[in-house]
Amino acid sequence: MSDGTLSTRQVAAPVDPIFGIVDAYRADQRPHKMNLAAGVYMDETGLTPIPASIREAERRILAASTSKLYAPISGEGAYLDAVRNLLFRQPGDVWGATHPAVADGRVTLLHTPGGTGAMRLAVDLVARLRPGAEVWVGEPTWPNHFQIVDAARVNLRRFAWLTTNQQAFDESGLLAALDAAKAGDAFIFHGTCHNPTGIDPTATQWQQIAERVEQRGLIPIIDTAYQGLGDGLIADTASLRAFLATGVELLVASSASKNFSLYNERVGALAIVGATGAATSILASHARQIVRTMWSNPPVHGGAIVATILGDTQLRTQWEEELEAMRLRILASRHELTAALAAAGAQGFARLLEGRGMFSLLGLTDAQLARLRDEHAIYLVAQGRINMAGLSPAKVPVVAQAVAQVLAGGDR
Ligand code: LMR
Repeated sequence: MSDGTLSTRQVAAPVDPIFGIVDAYRADQRPHKMNLAAGVYMDETGLTPIPASIREAERRILAASTSKLYAPISGEGAYLDAVRNLLFRQPGDVWGATHPAVADGRVTLLHTPGGTGAMRLAVDLVARLRPGAEVWVGEPTWPNHFQIVDAARVNLRRFAWLTTNQQAFDESGLLAALDAAKAGDAFIFHGTCHNPTGIDPTATQWQQIAERVEQRGLIPIIDTAYQGLGDGLIADTASLRAFLATGVELLVASSASKNFSLYNERVGALAIVGATGAATSILASHARQIVRTMWSNPPVHGGAIVATILGDTQLRTQWEEELEAMRLRILASRHELTAALAAAGAQGFARLLEGRGMFSLLGLTDAQLARLRDEHAIYLVAQGRINMAGLSPAKVPVVAQAVAQVLAGGDR
């Protein structure tokens, strides 16, 4: 091979730790196969439906659309206003965001292609504005965090998210990592519904974390992809409010993939909160320049759906009801699975009830996961991350029996 070719390196990149598994599931010909890998909501029949509020919003958009003109680099104002309200609404706010950070002009947003685009933009901003800064992630985390930090050419630091028995949030470990970091380093936090463990800090712990972050001069990047699927739309931004209360500069990556079921529309946002309104403007100008070289300006259709729904009281109410129904069904599946695992003789899974949101770790080895796939056609992510939102009353006993069987195989 000559040096002039792109393929000189010749070594293939690894398959994606989540979508690679989904590809294997798609290729599986067994009719009883079960995809509990990617974090997507499925109804009782196994479909990921388009909610009625989305269909109605799309009908209205189609009827009113006249052009496919470019959006501004940071996105359309109606979408950005809608997401700002969603993220910065406080307990007591019916709609609209009364948080002082918003009132003081310290908050600006950009529409990004999904939460992934927002995370990449956030880490790129850190790389550009704080050369030499390192980005810290608590392990285990969403595997794409590692790839995003790597792609932004930033040094990655790791700390343990869970205590050594893998049962609880390791607050002292995180506080020690905050103390070990240097000023200007960034920490990625999961705003709610930690992916993959489902284990979040309490509101009091978030306050302690935020205060330490402020004392140490660190930059929080809050990845919030599951707002409304944990404890509710406003409760799920308690982490964000804890950081805001300290006055630190922060970045918030949000996603409409799960809570609006807009997975393939790639709808997300990066909220930038600067120390002052002037600082926010400067940060936003850098964000726009980065965007211009990556996706130039965002795809508008998905954002228009979100803006249409959140801008109309009736549609917003309908969507909130649909979201709450999803949240409750995921919670019910979590309880059903825990009970079924116990009934199947698998010990030690009562801890699943401590988790919230779509995911929990079953703590399975690669060999056990391979057996689940090969013998039972059940697909999970590494360490046995299970998507509770993909379960149904019919699937739960099948999954529980299969898990109990591979655990009894003795290779745990
Ligand atoms: C997941 O963790 O399964 C989802 O966030 C989908 C993704 O982009 O990885």
